[in-house]
Amino acid sequence: MVITMPRGTQDILPEESKKWQYIEEKLRKISDSFCYEEIRTPMFESTELFSRGVGDTTDIVQKEMYTFMDKGNRSITLRPEGTAGTVRSYIENKLFAKTIQPQKLYYVGPMFRYERKQKGRYRQFVQYGVEVIGEESPKIDAEVISLAYNIYKSFGIENIKVSINSLGNPEERQAYNEALVKHFEPRINEFCEDCNNRLYKNPMRILDCKVDAEHELIKNAPKLLEYLGEESKQYFAEVLRHLDALGVKYEVDHNLVRGLDYYTHTAFEIMIDNPEVELKTLCGGGRYNGLIKLLDGPEDKKGIGFALSIERLLLALESENIELPIDDTIDAFVVAMGEKAGDAGVKLTNDLRLAGYKAQSDYFDKKMKAQMKLADRYNAKFSIIIGDSELDNGQYVVKDMKTYDQENVEFDNIVKYLEEKLKGEK
Ligand code: HAM
Repeated sequence: MVITMPRGTQDILPEESKKWQYIEEKLRKISDSFCYEEIRTPMFESTELFSRGVGDTTDIVQKEMYTFMDKGNRSITLRPEGTAGTVRSYIENKLFAKTIQPQKLYYVGPMFRYERKQKGRYRQFVQYGVEVIGEESPKIDAEVISLAYNIYKSFGIENIKVSINSLGNPEERQAYNEALVKHFEPRINEFCEDCNNRLYKNPMRILDCKVDAEHELIKNAPKLLEYLGEESKQYFAEVLRHLDALGVKYEVDHNLVRGLDYYTHTAFEIMIDNPEVELKTLCGGGRYNGLIKLLDGPEDKKGIGFALSIERLLLALESENIELPIDDTIDAFVVAMGEKAGDAGVKLTNDLRLAGYKAQSDYFDKKMKAQMKLADRYNAKFSIIIGDSELDNGQYVVKDMKTYDQENVEFDNIVKYLEEKLKGEK
């Protein structure tokens, strides 16, 4: 039987891979401009990191983790997200002792969740995420949200909307959760099984239920805002004020709760603002002030971040009909006629490659016409032709594949010639 890839995974073939490289490069450049530095953490961690960090009652921990016992009888989990690992590393490597605080970190890499396969939902997907860990300020929250927002803008994705909410501090959340239990308890039998399970463990997640979204009790549930103290309200107002100043368009959504347990205060998501697109959420994040302490780090350190998946960024590009400017040309195709010229062609191709040019030639002594065809297929900018007469007079014939102009170029001058011609393109 033919072996196929596991459900929920995908092969990224070369043509598609060029898009991924373009996106990843751009993400790295933007991160660099915002002064975020890359962190690379393991793709698997101790299971306890996620059950403690992401939260025992979350869908991720309850249903979606790839967990196994390794040969040393340790429970290991393929990372379902990047925040817990980054915070673990911040603590373990004492990044809190660095002179620059907060530490501004970013990561790009595969995450694993056992989810039902749907459009834009994979079991292995690549997240780009940032985490700002150390000190807290509304300016940091606004910067993180503006970074996420401007990533989409920089790709030309205009139809997006930022939804934002404040989840307050743990005490405020506790009071709110109690109010929600009171609100839902009498009629919880009208809700789905998941909501029944969530009622006492994590009642805020009922607000986020896809099955019961239209239920009147969800629509008229108490609002978290009413449970926020002055300090939390003030902090949230400051974040919004900075977002205004940075030109980030947002909507306050009091029902936004997010699916992970570690959030406090600012929480946000970025969605596609297009009624024809079903899967709307492109990116999510928020502040997690308690997580560092929860993972046994210094009590006074706080964090905020977000993550997006490249798979959904690609979907957004597709739904907005945006083509990425992928360069699928090569600089030169060497066309060689005859045995001696063939050898010289191999050497020239190699020299061009070592000089930093993308160069290719034919391996099979094909006829001139077939080699020129191949040059076209490779989208070569120039073909460099060598035959017996070229070998005799020490000059290549160089053909511009767009204009069909031809020039003779001395052997020794070929690199210089290409350099001149391709100036501005490299
Ligand atoms: P999350 O909302 O679970 O948050 O995931 C963030 C983003 O990852 C989603 O908005 C979506 O773009 C993408 N994503 C999630 N699951 C899948 C999937 N199965 N297939 C494709 N894309 C997916 C987190 O992961 C948090 N760690 C974000 C964060 C960072 N909060 C603070 N810092």
